[in-house]
Amino acid sequence: MENTEMEEFINAVQERSDIYEVVSRYVPLTLKSGRFWACCPFHEEKTPSFTVTPDKGVFYCFGCHTGGNVFKFISLIEHITYFEAVKLQAERLGINLPSRKKTSDEIKFEQEKDALLKITTLTRDFYHNCLVKTAEGEQGRKYLAARGISEKVIKEFKLGFAPDSWDALTKKIISRGFSESQLVSAGLAVERKNSSGVFDRLRGRVIIPISDISGKVVAFGGRILIDEKDQPKYLNTPETEIFSKGKLLFGLDKSNRAIISANTAIIVEGYMDAISLYSAGIENVVASLGTAFTEDHAKILSRYARRIIFCYDSDEAGQRATVRALPMMKNTGVEVFILIVPDGKDPDEFIQKHGKDAFKKLLENVTPFIDYLFNYKFKQTDCSTLRGKMQVLREMFPLCAEIKNNVIQREYFKKFSTALLLDEDLILEEWKKFSARSPNSKNENQKNLPPLKISLIQQSGGSIIKTLWNEPELLNYVNSFISSKNFITVHQEIINYIEKCYSEGKTPDIFNANSELTPEANWEISRILGKDEPYDSQMSAFQDSIKIMRRLILERRYQQINNAAENFFKVGDIKSWKEQLQALQEIQKEITEL
Ligand code: UTP
Ligand code: MN
Repeated sequence: MENTEMEEFINAVQERSDIYEVVSRYVPLTLKSGRFWACCPFHEEKTPSFTVTPDKGVFYCFGCHTGGNVFKFISLIEHITYFEAVKLQAERLGINLPSRKKTSDEIKFEQEKDALLKITTLTRDFYHNCLVKTAEGEQGRKYLAARGISEKVIKEFKLGFAPDSWDALTKKIISRGFSESQLVSAGLAVERKNSSGVFDRLRGRVIIPISDISGKVVAFGGRILIDEKDQPKYLNTPETEIFSKGKLLFGLDKSNRAIISANTAIIVEGYMDAISLYSAGIENVVASLGTAFTEDHAKILSRYARRIIFCYDSDEAGQRATVRALPMMKNTGVEVFILIVPDGKDPDEFIQKHGKDAFKKLLENVTPFIDYLFNYKFKQTDCSTLRGKMQVLREMFPLCAEIKNNVIQREYFKKFSTALLLDEDLILEEWKKFSARSPNSKNENQKNLPPLKISLIQQSGGSIIKTLWNEPELLNYVNSFISSKNFITVHQEIINYIEKCYSEGKTPDIFNANSELTPEANWEISRILGKDEPYDSQMSAFQDSIKIMRRLILERRYQQINNAAENFFKVGDIKSWKEQLQALQEIQKEITEL
């Protein structure tokens, strides 16, 4: 396909897309101040700061600053790439994708995958019917009932039962026109060693179908009914063309909506834990299928939630798995917490014993991962010696280095000091040595400074001026939040003019302004006053704009002081460092109150 052909295609889809129509499929929009507003689907909030401007074809959130065109919106909300979003939208509009001919290898590969998916779907239905309809399935039904799994959940997860037979499934699938070798490729049958032919891999087990994110069944887990020493408790189908363990999270096809809306994912070790939480109404849960948690898992989850709670088994092995999983979350920008189930081996057992409300209480008290790792290492190390204490510190410092907020960083040092019985100054001394050694401690004064969001400042400034123009007595009110130097230059000029009129007892006037203001300021004030707006929406835009600008100013100041604090620390001026931290706390307080 030619590039220009593709560009034309994308343009055609964009032209025919109505961003209002697209967004309102996902979030209800309300008209206010010439834009449509909603609570942002991309971050947690209670008052709407997400906006859609249909005539410009864009969306923008004043809270998390996410914005873009219709394709960007679709790609974010559907968790797909930009180009996939273009394709999806084209499909919805019935626009055909300019096509390229597939090679015969590609066609063959796709056909083979299709066949495997047909087999897994047939298999899922076969096992499910065995469970719910046959006499042999009775033992499976009893088993699940004893574990508190309702018929509703059995249907929802399409749980099944594999008959205790060498060829029940094989016969069934062959009768549908598939080959033995396809059945082996799907991981459902195993080739016989001493003769020809194949036999069913899963026999006499309760079956848990494993689906990919789109809900297609790609694998199965089978649990024996009675725990026995010489039999694996779970038998899973192996990795195949359609199943790769390290990239799949069990349950995500069902829980993704709940995860997005809670902005939190709970990750557990076993399918039964996920099913158990899900059926207890805690639906934002996935399981990592007893394999190691991978970077791919981390990446997938980070597209759905800003918070992840690891809730692995509380035994030694589960905790070791947690410690190994945590580094995978690095660089995802997700906040990571740990929940150690206080009574019982895993979340499923806890819920069976104490009920779902008790588990919900636990969820309110999860441990941030740094605290968790500190406690873990503290227990693992002999901290009665200085050597042990230092070792724990050395292991914690790289994690502390990732905390960009100096106030929080210091809280950890205080905590370490209390737990390790070490003087805080000694810890700071060690930290200084560590920071000097670590490669990313370059002294960049401007680092992390958020770029001034000029367009946002211009927009908010406009709304503020619009009100001030008619009600100049509000000037003092505005000044108490935003000093005039924080406005863009033309706005400063206009505000000075308003101030002058006010002090002379005159009302600002567009005709007088004409001779007193520069052409740019004249142009801008005409633009600002040009848009007609009902008074109440103008006033709420005025209030919002003051908040937005105040927040931007505070965030920037916070970052500046945070950088200054870091520099004081590096040169060893601990007194000034502490003062800066104090200032940071005050700013943070104001930001929160906003
Ligand atoms: P667990 O042994 O913790 O199982 O293994 P569980 O989830 O508590 O299961 P129940 O409650 O006894 O039924 C956790 C996960 O490890 C994998 C499975 O994915 C299981 O969900 N596993 C475990 C296996 O693959 N094979 C096994 O033999 C055991
Ligand atoms: Mn269990």
